[in-house]
Amino acid sequence: MAFVDHASDSLAAIIAKGAQVVCDSNVARIHTDLVASIPREQLLLLDAVETNKTLDTAQWLLQTLSQRKIRRNQQLVAIGGGIVQDVTAFSASILYRGLPWVFFPTTLLAQADSCIGGKTSINLGGRKNLLGSFHPPSEVIIDLTFLESLSNNDIHSGVGEILHYYLYADSPRTQALVDELTKLLSNRQGFRPYIEESLAIKRSVIEEDEFDRGERNKFNYGHTFGHALEAATAYAINHGQAVTVGMDLANHLSAEHGMLEAREFERLHKLFAANIPAYNWANLNLDEYLRALASDKKNVSSDLTCILSRGPGKLFKHTLQIDDNLRRSIYEYFGSIS
Ligand SMILES: NC(=O)c1ccc[n+]([C@@H]2O[C@H](COP(=O)([O-])OP(=O)(O)OC[C@H]3O[C@@H](n4cnc5c(N)ncnc54)[C@H](O)[C@@H]3O)[C@@H](O)[C@H]2O)c1
Repeated sequence: MAFVDHASDSLAAIIAKGAQVVCDSNVARIHTDLVASIPREQLLLLDAVETNKTLDTAQWLLQTLSQRKIRRNQQLVAIGGGIVQDVTAFSASILYRGLPWVFFPTTLLAQADSCIGGKTSINLGGRKNLLGSFHPPSEVIIDLTFLESLSNNDIHSGVGEILHYYLYADSPRTQALVDELTKLLSNRQGFRPYIEESLAIKRSVIEEDEFDRGERNKFNYGHTFGHALEAATAYAINHGQAVTVGMDLANHLSAEHGMLEAREFERLHKLFAANIPAYNWANLNLDEYLRALASDKKNVSSDLTCILSRGPGKLFKHTLQIDDNLRRSIYEYFGSIS
């Protein structure tokens, strides 16, 4: 992985070797100089909306690449956030049983989280990330200037994922990230040390458990409850902020089961508050939400497999029955943040 000042220099060398480039259409619209340097016959534009993270989109991409006669020794390049990454990497993982790909992450979430770890994901039938594979990029090139055109909401989304790594590791930077958030929104280059620490925490775990069979499971903290929130709100809430609410809800359930002190729940709730989106929680369809939880891909029975917390640095895997008690606890939680 490399931090660079000008993504265009690194891109030019890759394009010259005939790479096909999948670029987020918003990035292409905003960063016109970068995209102008890519020959039309090497460029594919993709709208980064969750409803595009589908087999249909992957099929369109694969067919276009096949029509363009891409060879197994040519590279695929993804320029964008997690959605462009997931569709491109998934397609790359099955084309010729594995085509090398290079990633230029353009969102905070992609720079601080998804660019390493090798997971590719596609939604199926309204179920989030149901399909996927492991297919890491051969190179990750991070240019922080991409963050300057990102909406504040998408910055908050990245902050949600960074917080989840920090709480996994009980990072001493956690409070500083929240305290500095307003400043960082207007000085986005300032995210660099936070990105580096987030990636270092993630790397230390995936080096031991690349295929998510043990310790890496704990990175699902906030995700089970967050994915269900994304699905139940038709993706009105972005991924990282849904994860923030998901961590807070996981803590609420941990406190209810006597695993987390009420005072610690309150302290962490205040921390998360800076990253919880404005939303009319009273309108959340609880049936829809519980249905989404029940169909989470990590469940191995009719119960809910999730990560709960005894505090920062003390996460653990737990199974909860999906029953009236859980429904009541979740109802109470959303009532309390309204
Ligand atoms: N594969 C993994 O390991 C992994 C990990 C975490 C999340 N994800 C997935 O990532 C997705 C979320 O990705 P994301 O948060 O990176 O964003 P995204 O790809 O959903 O993009 C968010 C928005 O930002 C726009 N955008 C992207 N870069 C921009 C820039 N530089 N300037 C202006 N606008 C820009 C996009 O067009 C889009 O409108 C979710 O689907 C999530 O499930 C994948």
